[in-house]
Amino acid sequence: MHFPLSPSLPTISLDGAWNSIVDPYESGISSRYYKTEKPQSKSDLVEFDYDHSPKLKVPGDWNTQRDSLLFYEGPVWYQRNFSYQRKLHRRVFLYFGATNYFSRVWLNGTKLGEHVGGFTPFDFEVTDQLVEGENSVVVEVDNTRRLDGVPSLKTDWWNYGGLTRGVKVVEVPETFVENYFLHLSSDRKSVDGWVQFNGKPVKNEVAIEFPETGFVYRTLLTPEGRANIGFEASAIACGKKLISECKAALELWSPENPKLFKVVISGEGDSVTDEIGFRTIETRGTEILLNGKPVFLRGISMHEEAPFRSGRAIFEENDRTLLTWAKELGCNFVRMAHYPHNEDMVRLADRMGLLLWEEIPVYWDIQWQNATTLENAKAQLRDVILRDQNRAAIAFWSMSNETPISAERTRFLKSLSTYARDLDATRLITSALNHTDKTGPFSRTLSDPAGEYLDTRLITSALIGPRGSGTTVVQDDPLTEALDVIGQNEYIGWYEGKPEDADNTRWTFAFNKPVIVSEFGADAQYNLHGDAQTRFTEEYQVNVFEHQLNMLAHMPQLAGMSPWLLMDFRSPRRPLPGIQDYFNRKGLISDRGQRKRAFYILQKFYREKAAQ
Ligand code: GCU
Repeated sequence: MHFPLSPSLPTISLDGAWNSIVDPYESGISSRYYKTEKPQSKSDLVEFDYDHSPKLKVPGDWNTQRDSLLFYEGPVWYQRNFSYQRKLHRRVFLYFGATNYFSRVWLNGTKLGEHVGGFTPFDFEVTDQLVEGENSVVVEVDNTRRLDGVPSLKTDWWNYGGLTRGVKVVEVPETFVENYFLHLSSDRKSVDGWVQFNGKPVKNEVAIEFPETGFVYRTLLTPEGRANIGFEASAIACGKKLISECKAALELWSPENPKLFKVVISGEGDSVTDEIGFRTIETRGTEILLNGKPVFLRGISMHEEAPFRSGRAIFEENDRTLLTWAKELGCNFVRMAHYPHNEDMVRLADRMGLLLWEEIPVYWDIQWQNATTLENAKAQLRDVILRDQNRAAIAFWSMSNETPISAERTRFLKSLSTYARDLDATRLITSALNHTDKTGPFSRTLSDPAGEYLDTRLITSALIGPRGSGTTVVQDDPLTEALDVIGQNEYIGWYEGKPEDADNTRWTFAFNKPVIVSEFGADAQYNLHGDAQTRFTEEYQVNVFEHQLNMLAHMPQLAGMSPWLLMDFRSPRRPLPGIQDYFNRKGLISDRGQRKRAFYILQKFYREKAAQ
């Protein structure tokens, strides 16, 4: 990936209606769908015609655009024309916000390249491939699930396929700002970071300007176009005044005060503008410190599912609805599950004041020993960090969710954690764990002949004994050693035992680190009522939440929580007719925006927590 799409970059949007060919047998390669050929004569054999093919909206998943594609998994070909006027001393890139899952891209019949992964941006330089006037771009997108994939074959979310985020033509000068990272030092005394130019530097100087205060920092570039940044943090507040004569302090970002500074980075004839907040996030023993002060994370988990219409949330208005509901719940924290959400969502959280947990889709069981799978996971991690590293809202990089303990798995995830720290040492590394047995035979994935990945949670409880009798759960997953913060998923009252078992459950953690209970919850269909023991009723969900909040009140090392989850979402694993209908109904809000009774239980708890 060449650059984060700074809002100030000149772009031509290719969003809108694209021609599309659904190609279940992938005959498009042999039939050269990447060439927009037309029959030259009546005897010419050309068996596809984009211009008369059905349209698909971009950005968007194809599954919710046509009933016939709801369950479709396989290749779909997208094509559109666009006109372009070449400009001197300009380089041009074709930029994709994200495409799920495996994509091949052609411009004017020339292959530009491929991309693996459904949730991070990528681009191709097309300066030399573009022609004056009409250009044709063809993208084959294939969301077939793959054993060696990230994620692999099994997930509990809908495998939405397509050009799921915006497509743009981006124009930049011959030497341009490729990427930058500005952050507060851990002692909050200085702003550190770097700026990387792409292209041969001439003047060898970069300026970082804060128009709001008038402060400008200038430094030199190396011949490779890199500048290391370092200046006193209060300089931003002091603006043009000399620091020695100025007592002002830098205003820090926090959920209560999501202060963002306009920043202009310019040099070598290029300039990009961004909005950046400055804050520190760290741990001290079992506490999480924001700007040096302990913070309790009043959170909620959420999928990138569009409210009211389902499908991928693609428009800012979708994101704003979801984050506004989280705010209404009393949250200062959101766990974006289980993959990088769209960039607008993250920038909105920056502006609205919500701390974020961002995760790559290393979900349940994947091929831990497959080097390509590890490279794939690392590439997704790198690309999300390079995209979001300047967002103050992002507090956590999460390496995985509910992965079965094995030596290969732990090695895989430890190398990911190290890689994340190398790329960004300013944030906290975590993972959502769910195995809680010290000696249980259940440290490896048990698979039946069909290779089905068993739902571990149904086994763990059997090992540790009936919770009613007062159970101590031990979390000693060896991966914890490599984490700053322990994410703990648990489903007492839904997949394990009865809701009231939570009251007699005590937790111990082998590592003295902060704990975020990253998932707990229960399915409830909106407006289905009954007694507290009847599953899928709102009363059952309330019952689970009440006992959970009681248990968490006694949980050692607890620094936050993100119950599962904000809104019901589509899942191919939830067919229960009349209740789930292929939706996971653990939302506190239905997919139609209706608040369930448990919403108010958690809202009340967070209000009291915030008042403490
Ligand atoms: C898991 C998993 C989620 C899933 C949830 C559930 O813990 O992390 O992705 O949706 O449980 O079963 O509802």
